[in-house]
Amino acid sequence: MLRVVVLVSGGGTNLQAIIDAVNDGTITNTEIVGVVSNNYNAYALERAEKAGISAHIVSPKDFSSREEFNRALLKAVDDLAPDLIVLAGFLVVIPGEMIDKYENKIINIHPSLIPSFCGTGYYGLKVHEAALERGVKITGATVHYVDKGTDTGPIIMQKAVEVKEGDTPKTLQQRVMEEAEWKLLPAAINMIANS
Ligand code: GAR
Repeated sequence: MLRVVVLVSGGGTNLQAIIDAVNDGTITNTEIVGVVSNNYNAYALERAEKAGISAHIVSPKDFSSREEFNRALLKAVDDLAPDLIVLAGFLVVIPGEMIDKYENKIINIHPSLIPSFCGTGYYGLKVHEAALERGVKITGATVHYVDKGTDTGPIIMQKAVEVKEGDTPKTLQQRVMEEAEWKLLPAAINMIANS
């Protein structure tokens, strides 16, 4: 069984997609052993609780320095002994020490076709705002391994999504989630769990 820890910051719809996929057998050989949030108010925490998954909060607000926060984050993850760490809307820069320790064991979902609309400053709705401003006709989502750059690690899977006339950042975000993210992330985890 692949021991998966999911790191979250917000709504947790991608976490929910993983939970549902484990429950309905779309993902096999996998156990979600914990969820870690940097944000006390993340709705993802309630999703974890409802699914009976242990949820942990490591908030920068509770530490006097970034180094202390990074140490606590690493400890929270280490304590769960993961085989795979999944960043599902986790909006914190992963400490270098964690990347070294879990080389090729951290994956991230990003709401664009990397290398478009990625890197520092491109997260959540901002990605879709930038895509619409540029007038792209095709966008999508990417699952990739995490290295020390921002969205620069090797790509595992991608799925394209059509931009429609009259799309707003919100309607586009919703379509990218429904058509790409919620399918892609479970598929990538299942592939890793069974390879
Ligand atoms: C998702 O769209 C995810 O791709 C994005 O944040 C959202 C989180 O939603 N991640 C990034 O932009 C990372 N650069 P969720 O909390 O409902 O899963």
